[in-house]
Amino acid sequence: MKVTVFGIGYVGLVQAAVLAEVGHDVVCVDVDQNKVDNLEKGIIPIYEPGLTPLVKSNFEAGRVVFTTDAEKGVKHGDLVFIAVGTPPDEDGSADLKYVLAVAQTIAMHMQAHKIIINKSTVPVGTADRVTAKVTEVLADLQKSVSFDVVSNPEFLKEGAAVADCMRPDRIILGTSSERSEKKLRELYAPFNRNHDKIIVMDVRSAELTKYAANCMLATKISFMNEIANLAELFGADVENVRKGIGSDPRIGYQFIYPGCGYGGSCFPKDVQALVRSAKGVGYQAKVLEAVEAVNYRQKEKLFDYIMRYYKNDVAGKTIALWGLSFKPNTDDMREASSRVLMEKLWEQGARVQAYDPEAMEETQRIYAGQDRLSLMGTKEAALNGADCLVICTEWQAFRAPDFELIKSKIADPVIFDGRNLFEPALISEYGLHYYGIGRGQSIVQAI
Ligand code: UDX
Repeated sequence: MKVTVFGIGYVGLVQAAVLAEVGHDVVCVDVDQNKVDNLEKGIIPIYEPGLTPLVKSNFEAGRVVFTTDAEKGVKHGDLVFIAVGTPPDEDGSADLKYVLAVAQTIAMHMQAHKIIINKSTVPVGTADRVTAKVTEVLADLQKSVSFDVVSNPEFLKEGAAVADCMRPDRIILGTSSERSEKKLRELYAPFNRNHDKIIVMDVRSAELTKYAANCMLATKISFMNEIANLAELFGADVENVRKGIGSDPRIGYQFIYPGCGYGGSCFPKDVQALVRSAKGVGYQAKVLEAVEAVNYRQKEKLFDYIMRYYKNDVAGKTIALWGLSFKPNTDDMREASSRVLMEKLWEQGARVQAYDPEAMEETQRIYAGQDRLSLMGTKEAALNGADCLVICTEWQAFRAPDFELIKSKIADPVIFDGRNLFEPALISEYGLHYYGIGRGQSIVQAI
C-alpha cells in the first residue's frame, strides 16, 4: 500500500521502517533537510536497537524514501500519517502547531481521497481540529476532495521500539468510517497475526486511550515510589514489598519498580497534558496531579541522600555518576532523573564525573560549557578521584560491577543507587555502604 509519514522523529521513523519492512511503499517527509540527507547516507538520528539496519535495508530496496518535498509526499500516500512532535507549551498542554501545519500541508496538496492518521500523542479532540483545518483549507482553495481523519496512537517503548512495532499488543483504530477501517486493517494485516489485535472505537476514545495507558503506567510508578518512601521511614524493604504485591495477578510485576523517578518523552509530558486538558473541561484530575508531584519529588531523592550523607556540604566533592539516559538502551536524555541530580549538585558546588554507554554525546550537547561535568570513557574511569558513586540508570553493564575496584577508587565507601540494582547485604560484605530507594537499610534511618 502507498503510505506517507510526516515527521521523521522517533515514532515516524520506526513506523515507516516497519511498514516498509513488510512490503508497503513508504515516503517519509520532514522539514529538516539535514536529517533527510543523513538518512539517505544511512545515518540514523536516534539510537534504537535494530533500527539502523532496518532503515538501511529498506532504503536500499527502495521501499522507503526520505524527502522534504511535502507535495510529493501528499501525492504518494493513500494513507498519510501525522507523526510530528507535540511538545508541551508553557502551561503543559500539548502544542498542536506542528500537527495542524501538517494538516494544512496535506489539504493544500491533496487531489484524491486521503486517510489522514494521527499517530502523534494528541489531546482528545485533535482529530476534530485536524478535520476542521483540512476542511477550511480545502474550502479556501475551492477544492472538493474527500478525506477521513483516524486516530491510531502508538504504544512503542524506547529501546524496544522496533520490536514493539513489529509485534504490537494492540492496534487501536479510532474511526467510524468503514472505508478507513478496512484500509487500516489491510495495512496492519502483517502485524495482526495469532489473534485479532485490532480494537476499533470512536475517535475520541482512541485519543483518550493513549493518555490513559501512559498515565496508568506513570501512576503505578509514582504509587510504588510512594510506598518505597514509606518503606524507608518504616524500616521495611520495598523490594520485598514489590515481590509481595506483584505476585497478585491483578497488580502484576510490571511497572512497579521503585526508583529515582520516571523520565522520557512520554510519561512526564502526557501526565501533564491530561491534567491540563482535564482543567480545560472543568475537572481537577487529582490522582494525576499527585502522580506528577510524587515524581517531581522522587527525582530529587538521590540528591537528598547525598546531601544527608555529606551533612549538606558537597562543595568541592566529585560525584561519580553511572547512567545518564532516562532509561537503558537509549541515548534519550529528555526528563532524565540524572539531569535533576547533576543540576542540583552543580548548584551546590560539586563536580560530576559521568559515564553512560550511549547518552554521552547527547549530554555533551545539552551541557556544553558546563565545567563541573566530566564525561568519562568507561564506568571505571568515572570513579577516578571520585568521592562516592551514584547510579541513575539500570544499564545491564552496571549490574555486576567489581565492588573491590569501586571501593579502592572512591574516597568514601558509599553507593547511592537510584535503581535498586544490588542486594544491600552483598554490598556490605565489600565494606561499602549502600543506599537504594526504599530499602530496609535506609539513609533516612541511618543518618
Ligand atoms: C512509555 C510507555 O511504556 C510506552 O508504551 C509509550 O508508548 C511511551 O512511553 P518509554 O517512555 O519509552 O515508554 O519508557 P518506559 O520503559 O515506559 O519507561 C519510562 C520511565 O519509567 C523510565 O524513566 C523508567 O526508568 C521508569 N520506570 C519504568 C520506573 O521508574 N519503574 C518501572 O517500574 C518502570
